[in-house]
Amino acid sequence: MITYLEKELQMLDNNNGNGERQSLHGNWSSRLAFIMAVTGSAVGLGNIWKFPYMAGQNGGGAFVLVYLLFVFLIGMPVMMSEILIGRRGRRNPVSTMSLLGEEEGRSTQWKWVGALGVIAAMLILSYYSVIAGWTLTYIPKAFLGQFAGADVATIANLFDDFVGSPLAVITAHSIFMFLNFFIIAAGVKGLERAVKFLMPALLFLLVVLFFYSLTSGSFGAGVAFMFTPNFAALDWDGVLTAMGLACFTLSIGMGAIMAYGAYLPQETSITNATVSVVLADTGIAMLAGLVIFPLVFANGLNPGEGPDLVFKTLPLVFGQMQAGTFLATIFFILLAFAALTSALGLMEPAVAWMVESTDFSRRQSAATIAFIIWFFGLGTALSFNVLSEFTFYQGTIYENVDFITSNIMLPMSAVFITIFAAWVMSQNSTSDELNGHGFVYRVWQVLARYFAPIAILIIFMQAIGWI
Ligand code: PHE
Repeated sequence: MITYLEKELQMLDNNNGNGERQSLHGNWSSRLAFIMAVTGSAVGLGNIWKFPYMAGQNGGGAFVLVYLLFVFLIGMPVMMSEILIGRRGRRNPVSTMSLLGEEEGRSTQWKWVGALGVIAAMLILSYYSVIAGWTLTYIPKAFLGQFAGADVATIANLFDDFVGSPLAVITAHSIFMFLNFFIIAAGVKGLERAVKFLMPALLFLLVVLFFYSLTSGSFGAGVAFMFTPNFAALDWDGVLTAMGLACFTLSIGMGAIMAYGAYLPQETSITNATVSVVLADTGIAMLAGLVIFPLVFANGLNPGEGPDLVFKTLPLVFGQMQAGTFLATIFFILLAFAALTSALGLMEPAVAWMVESTDFSRRQSAATIAFIIWFFGLGTALSFNVLSEFTFYQGTIYENVDFITSNIMLPMSAVFITIFAAWVMSQNSTSDELNGHGFVYRVWQVLARYFAPIAILIIFMQAIGWI
């Protein structure tokens, strides 16, 4: 039901007879279906892999606090703006921005904001797929009982040996990209239905791990690390990283949420939907942190370990648990699914755009886009082994792609999206979508007009060294 459109259905200005614009691809069957789909896109490696490693690298408490502030003060108004733009335009992000620009009597050039999002999403997927490949590889490792009773050094070696092999990493990345291509080309009805029970299952397993963490003996140390703000440990780069991470985990600034908003029924409250998604996404990130940090301290590991943090801590706890082999297998399967549902959201905007703008079929478009993303992904795959010494600007190839997308492209796109919704669109249009001029509308307006764009720009310029 999402964006898996048929070519012949596109670009007509549909109307349901009441003058209300309709999406050409139908609407979500319920508010819950929308929330599940957006949450499926939001919850992914960002919450379970990226959040803990970045919080660890940036000293914990202060970073987490700033991240939470960004989620609520910037993430929420941006998400509301994206959904309302999407629902008003009911097209793909590029066409929606151009259509609304025209309709509001402004410029159709706003389509470039949609294009910025499409490119950011492709670049993100290029490395996302490599890390998702790691989770795929951990499924057979778990199943074969390789974590059972293993100590810190064994688990670390397991990871280092795997990531040190370009062939292994590239194979896993290729398999993940192929799965993506296959699902995008074939349609995803079944997968969407599966998400409805896979996500709660992932949450359930995290809760099980959480209780295990509680008994690890270092729960207090983990909580203290995560929630005691030590601002000396956080510089402007860290603040920028927290902001980029907030956009990344919420899937905003890429047009992905805008595309989903296009299928939201007119009567559903955008505010309520946003609050549910943000709470679910943040809750899962916090839970992942509360599982991982106590384990880090209980095992004498370094919280600033980097992108391998999760892969070097979680297998340890599985290795010590009753039925750990079984639970670890299930966990990595669920994590791979969570990554897959996010990855589909990252690939679809580019594929939809290509289907609409060229005479390629859906399958050809999916293959072309998948190939381009796969190719860029090779840089990230190699940056963990043969090219690990090849560093420039922000570090390795992976670190550069991540920095440029999360810390530059997503915040920039978020600025344009809020400016578009709060300044370019008329108050009539926006209050129509946000149910009137009440208190919530006023709060959204202040955050989207002033707070979010100004805060993003200040942080951005501080970190880049312009002010
Ligand atoms: N939010 C996803 C995650 O946390 C990543 C993502 C970004 C997915 C943008 C879709 C669109 O893993």
